[in-house]
Formats: sequence, C-alpha cells, structure tokens
Amino acid sequence: MTKVERLIERFIPEHYNLFLDIDRKAKTFTGNVAITGEALKETVSLHQKDLSIHSVLLDNTALSFSVDEEREVVDIDLPELGNMTLVIEFSGNITDNMTGMYPSYYTVDGVKKEIISTQFESHFAREVFPSIDEPEAKATFDLSLKFDQKEGEIALANMPEVHSERRQETGVWTFDTTPRMSSYLLAFAFGELHGKLSKTKNGTEIGVFATVAHKASSLDFALDIAERVIEFYEDYFGVPYPIPQCYHVALPDFSSGAMENWGLITYREIYLLVDENSTALSRQTVALVIAHEIAHQWFGNLVTMKWWDDLWLNESFANMMEYVSVDAIEPSWKIFEDFQTTGVPAALERDAIDGVQSVHVEVSHPDEINTLFDAAIVYAKGSRLMHMLRRWLGDQDFAAGLNHYFKEHQYGNTIGLDLWNALGQVSGKDVAGFMDSWLEQPGYPVVTAKVEGDTLILTQKQFFIGEHEDKGRLWHIPLNSNWEGLPDVMTQAVLEIPNYSQLKDQNTGALRLNTGNTAHYITNYEGELLDAVIAELPDLDATSKLQAVQERRLLAQAQIISYASLLPILEPLKDESAYMVMAAMQSVIADLRLFIEEKSEEEDHFNQFVRELFHAQYERLGFEKKAGESDEDEKVRQLVLSNLVTANDKNMMAKASEIFAQYDGNLDSIPASVRLSILSSQMKMHETPELVDLYLSTYPTTRDANLRDELAIALSLTQSEETLERLVAALKDKDVIKPQDLFLWYMRLLRNSFSQEQIWTWSRENWDWIKKALGGDMSFDSFVIAPARVFKTAQRLDEYKAFFEPQLGDLAISRNISMGISQIKARVDLIEKDKPAVVAALLAL
Ligand code: BES
Ligand code: ZN
Repeated sequence: MTKVERLIERFIPEHYNLFLDIDRKAKTFTGNVAITGEALKETVSLHQKDLSIHSVLLDNTALSFSVDEEREVVDIDLPELGNMTLVIEFSGNITDNMTGMYPSYYTVDGVKKEIISTQFESHFAREVFPSIDEPEAKATFDLSLKFDQKEGEIALANMPEVHSERRQETGVWTFDTTPRMSSYLLAFAFGELHGKLSKTKNGTEIGVFATVAHKASSLDFALDIAERVIEFYEDYFGVPYPIPQCYHVALPDFSSGAMENWGLITYREIYLLVDENSTALSRQTVALVIAHEIAHQWFGNLVTMKWWDDLWLNESFANMMEYVSVDAIEPSWKIFEDFQTTGVPAALERDAIDGVQSVHVEVSHPDEINTLFDAAIVYAKGSRLMHMLRRWLGDQDFAAGLNHYFKEHQYGNTIGLDLWNALGQVSGKDVAGFMDSWLEQPGYPVVTAKVEGDTLILTQKQFFIGEHEDKGRLWHIPLNSNWEGLPDVMTQAVLEIPNYSQLKDQNTGALRLNTGNTAHYITNYEGELLDAVIAELPDLDATSKLQAVQERRLLAQAQIISYASLLPILEPLKDESAYMVMAAMQSVIADLRLFIEEKSEEEDHFNQFVRELFHAQYERLGFEKKAGESDEDEKVRQLVLSNLVTANDKNMMAKASEIFAQYDGNLDSIPASVRLSILSSQMKMHETPELVDLYLSTYPTTRDANLRDELAIALSLTQSEETLERLVAALKDKDVIKPQDLFLWYMRLLRNSFSQEQIWTWSRENWDWIKKALGGDMSFDSFVIAPARVFKTAQRLDEYKAFFEPQLGDLAISRNISMGISQIKARVDLIEKDKPAVVAALLAL
C-alpha cells in the first residue's frame, strides 16, 4: 500500500516567489516559482498534480527531474545539499472541479461571466504550482498574477497589493509577502467583484466581496459580523489578528461551505450574502460560518496542525469557537441552542455506528486525507468535546490556556498534546488524561442509571445503533449532575453509590446527569429514576427537555426501548414554544414516519396527531410576523408551518395558497420566513406544468441562494412523472443545477418515495460522471452517505450492497460504505421489530 510520503523530510521550504500568467480564454496558465529552502537529501521531491514541468534551475543551471503522476510529485536530483533557491517553470490547466484554480460561473443581465479563484485545502496547491504541499512545510509567499484585466475587474489575494503603480504598465498584480504559513492557505480571486470595506479598532481592513450580480446591500450583514467577531477573538485569545486584511469573498461555485485562506476567506454565496428579505435562521447561519472561518485565522492559520491526523485541532476548535463568539456578540440569539439542535444530534447519531472514525485518526494513505473531514465527527463531535472540556476547565482557564498556546506556537505547528499541555499548565488539571479517551476512541458511552435496594448504580457501556462488536471501551465521563454527592468524573465501568435514599433527601428534583447536555454521552434512566425525570419534564428548562427527547430517541434507534414509548413523551409537549424543544420533537416525528405506510390508516392518525401537536403554536403565530417578534418565534413559525405541510393540514395550506396568489409569481418577494412552506404547499396541492415552469425558471436566475434552495426543496416534492423527467435532465445541465448543489438535489429526491427509485438508478448509472463533476475533493463521499441515511427496505439494502461492496477497495469511500451498510441494516431491522408496537400505538391515538 502506498504510504503518504513526507516531502519535508528531504526539503524544507522557507520562501516561495510565485508568478502566474493566466489565460482565461484558453483556461490555461504558465508560471514560475523560485523556492528558497534547505535540501537535506540529494534527491528531493516537490508536489505537483497535472502540471507540465518545463525546467528546474539551480543557479541558472538546469537540473534533471522526472514527474511521477502517481505520487503527485516531481523528483529532482541535486548536485549539493544545504540552502538554495530552485527555480521552476511550469504550466497547467484551469479545470471545472472546484479545486486548485477554477472558474465560477454566473450571469448578469443574461450575459454569462466568470470569476477565477482557488481552493487549496486539503492538498490542491499542487495543482497550481510545485510546492511542498504539507501543513508542516510553512513558508512565506510572494505572489504575483497576470491576467487580461478588463474594466471593472479586480484581483484579491491573502495580502494587500503592493506596487499598484507598476501594474498600470506591466499588468502584473503583486501582493505583499505573507506571514509564514502552510501552502493550503494560499489563495487568490479575480474578476468583476465589488465589495464593501471597513476597519476594526486595531486597524485591520475588513472587506466583503461578491460578483456584481449581487446588490451591494447584501454585503452589509457580513461586514458587521466580521468586524465584531475579529474584535471578540483578539480579546478572547489575547493575540492580535496577525495580518493587515481580512477579506471575505462569495463565489458562485464552491465545493464546501467556506474556506479560511489567511486574509482571503472564500464562501459559498449562501453562507456570506444576506438579502433584505432574509430569515433569522439564515442570518444566524451566515454569522456562524463567518465566525468559524475567522476562528481559523488563529486556530489553523497562525498555529497549524503538524499533519492531517490532527485536523481536529483546526476544525473542532473553529466549530466550537463559532458558537462562543456569536454568543458573545449576539447573546439574544441564544446560539448555543442551535448547536443542540444540529451538531449534537448529528454527532450522537453517527458516532453510534460501529466502524466510525475517532476524532484523532491516523492517515496512512493519501486518499484518506479527504475522508477526515467527516462533519459529524471532526466538526460536531470534536467541537462537542471542546465544549465539554471548556465546561470542565471553566471559561477563564480555558481562554488563558489558549492565549498561552498561541503565544508559544504562533507561526508554528502542533499536535494535540501541545494544546493539552497549555491548558493543563494554566488549569493545573490533567487535561490529556481527561481528553484521551474521547479523542482516541471512536464512539461514546450510554450511562445506565438505576436504583437497586438503597444503592444508586451507574454503568457505562459503549452505545451502538446496529450491528457491532463491543470492545469494552471506557471513557472519563464528567457526570455534571444536578445532585450533590456524585463524583465529578466517572472512569470505571460500574459505579455504586450507597445510601441512595439519603442522597435523594439531600437533593431536590429528579436525579439528572449531563446537565446542559454538554458532555458527549447519553443517559438511560431506569425504573423510578425514569419516572421522576418524565414527571418533571414539562417543568424543566428547554435544554433538558430537548435532551430527554433526544436521548429517548437514540435509545429507541438502538432498540433499547420502543418508539411507541416516545408518543407519551411528545404529547405533554403540545404547548411547547421553545424552538429547540420543537426541533427535537420534529426529529422524533420524522423517525416515526419510517414506520408508516403511505396513505394508510395509521398515517391519517399520525398526521392528525402532528397537526394537534403544533396547533397551539400555529394559532399563536400564523403566517404573519408580529411587530417586535423574537427571532425564536420566527424559527418556531417556520418549523410549525413545515410540519403542517407534511402533515397535510388543509386549512394551513389553503391560507398558503392565498398568500401565494397575492404575490403573483413574484417569488422573491414572498416573505422569506414563510416562503418555503408556501412554495412547498403549492407543489403539494397544485403541481401543474405552469407551476413547475415558474419554479424551474426562477431557480437558476434568482440572486438569492436561499430562494434557490427552497425551490429545490419544493420541486423535490414532485408527484409527477413529467416533472421528475425534467428534474433528472437538469441534474447534468450545469446551467441549471450547479455541481456544488447536486448533492442537495440527490438527498431530497431520494427522500421522496415517488422519486427514489428513479434518482437511485440515475446515480448508479451516472456514477463516473458524478465523480468527475465533483472532482477530487471531499464532497463526493456524501453520495455514499446519502442513500444510507434514507433507505429502509431489505431490497434497497441489497441494491446498496450490490453497488457499493465492489468499491470497498477505494479508500476514499470504504469506511462510508461499510458504515452505510450497517446503518441501513439497523434501520431495516428496527422497522421489522418495532413496527407492530408503533403502528398499534398510532392507531390508538
Ligand atoms: N477548512 C474548511 C474547509 C474545507 C473543508 C476545505 C474540507 C477542504 C476540505 C472550512 O473551515 C470549513 O470547515 N468549512 C465548513 C463550513 C463551516 C462553517 C462548518 C464547510 O465547508 O462545510
Ligand atoms: Zn473549518
């Protein structure tokens, strides 16, 4: 098996002087790079991928070299060791796969235009210039660019432009020297971009840019958030933002969500631009994404993981800090609640499948690097672990430890232990000892709590959904109980606490563990302990309610309890008005639908139940925003309306039709917070070729990426063969559906039972095309994950296996294939075993 080579062991780069001459028409570039560094061996290698290397010079003498496409390198024979400058001439192509240097496509007044930009993480700098393309190989970069600049066009890079006067004559854009940094953080973008600028208190220039297809006003929200977030981090980390600029650019084509290039952060349009007609949810998402990428300017850019196995040092941290910072600048948003409804369930579900990766994970093959970016693990679980640690240490020690860490390691590289040491030094606690079991082991524990005689017994055991092999793993569990008298941390498999009745008398209320739901475990209360928690449920705070619902739901997924037992938990929550609790309830509702045959009696009963469950909030909120209404109420309204559409609420949908008619085809004027439900209900009630025409023609032309996404959701509800034909045809038409959005369509069309067969067949028949359209980066594996999240029959399981098992040799997707099989199996088994009880309970409603 190919091992990942570490090229830095043979050549240590210090500085790159890079010039690129870009021909947009021909979609090619030529360039040269002078790399100064130290050679430790006589044969050195530089990364390159799909480049033509024309010459390698040392002191004006040509050296012999050979390109090895398989290893993605050029090998060079050196006459000497030590410090030197290698000069390399090369050329390459601009291709459409959203890595390296690539075009983004957009239209202004019917005219097709392009922006050129870069995406180098994780290892695509090598597609643009020869380099030691490893995070540890930090160096400074001088970048200059030449392109056929036209009126109205600008170029941006990590650093400000220098010598702009020279550009008037030469046409060459030259940018200031970067700080010492990893190659994956280099970036540039050019074309018809417009932007808005401001300055932080410390003088950093903030800029937000987009193509001229967007109104300048759509940049304002991001500009304000970016400025305040930077100031927050400077304060919290105690280290100033290290470079002169912090620019943010929205790109029409973008593979992931956003990318933290130092000083030039790039985004999907939907994650940066905010239209006047926007929702609270979308503004909060934009703020979180910006806060995430700015956190990377310290965590990742200033201090970088030594190697990709410690990717969590970047991503888990940024994912945690985005919440800490947004909470600090906008406390009324109660943004930690958002993590409870998104990251927490994502981590708990995926981390329960046997075969899942640990947060810290070895990388032994190049193809494995992309698989590291598992959102539920490295992002959601990883950040959950950081929240857990922050609570254990207390915010003050946590922030002080970070300050220590940045000061000691700035412009350098680290491993996890460096961070634990910094936090340990400040807090005096054994941080490494505490965190190891969480970082190094996959999965998480379920703590069973029960009373036997007068003894309270807590047992920890790994929690699994589906087939598994129990390896007897144990964790250092912070119990975080609401009762006094329990230990701080439980490390053993079984903990017996005597004199339960005395303990109970000393405390008030039901015994609860993991208060605040910040630690990565779930609790299975048994007997009287469960009864006490359930009895108290209506009076608990929103987080505890959500937690109780979430935990019971997971226990049901694992077949430890029946889904039927969840109905009596939902019922008392009928009048609930907290968004986070309702989101947890909605997950249970979605799960319960797994057991229900379409158009059956139990479906009627269940829909009636759902309508009643949300009736009080519908009555309270209706469709129209009230003056002075909270963002939370807006989110509740969205959730309620969308559930009522799914549950076929005729009254609600009639009202939706009235509103739709008022707007007379002017889709982008419909108030954003109710738009999705209105568009969906129209599709459900009145799917006509004219409606589909309207949706499909607005889809590629609207400026508003949120509206575009809502149209995709609504169209994916189709019940018409004719519409489905049109949608499937559009999947391969890049002028309608961009490759970056393919996955969203795929997921939604798989979810609709009417379109599932056809889209599943389409994906298998077009597998190679999909792979190519998405290029070599991480987004491809979502096409393996998506069907595993949806399929629920033995037939689909067989088809999934038949298609994917032969691909198990592909390391980029093999883990997801085996986890996918296990996930579908678990679901098929769950439905078979639990269905009679669930259907009986639904019929009895
Ligand atoms: N560093 C990542 C972007 C990235 C991911 C590059 C995978 C290469 C491969 C960036 O900081 C990030 O995490 N982006 C997220 C969005 C974020 C707000 C959670 C993403 O793209 O999903
Ligand atoms: Zn990130």
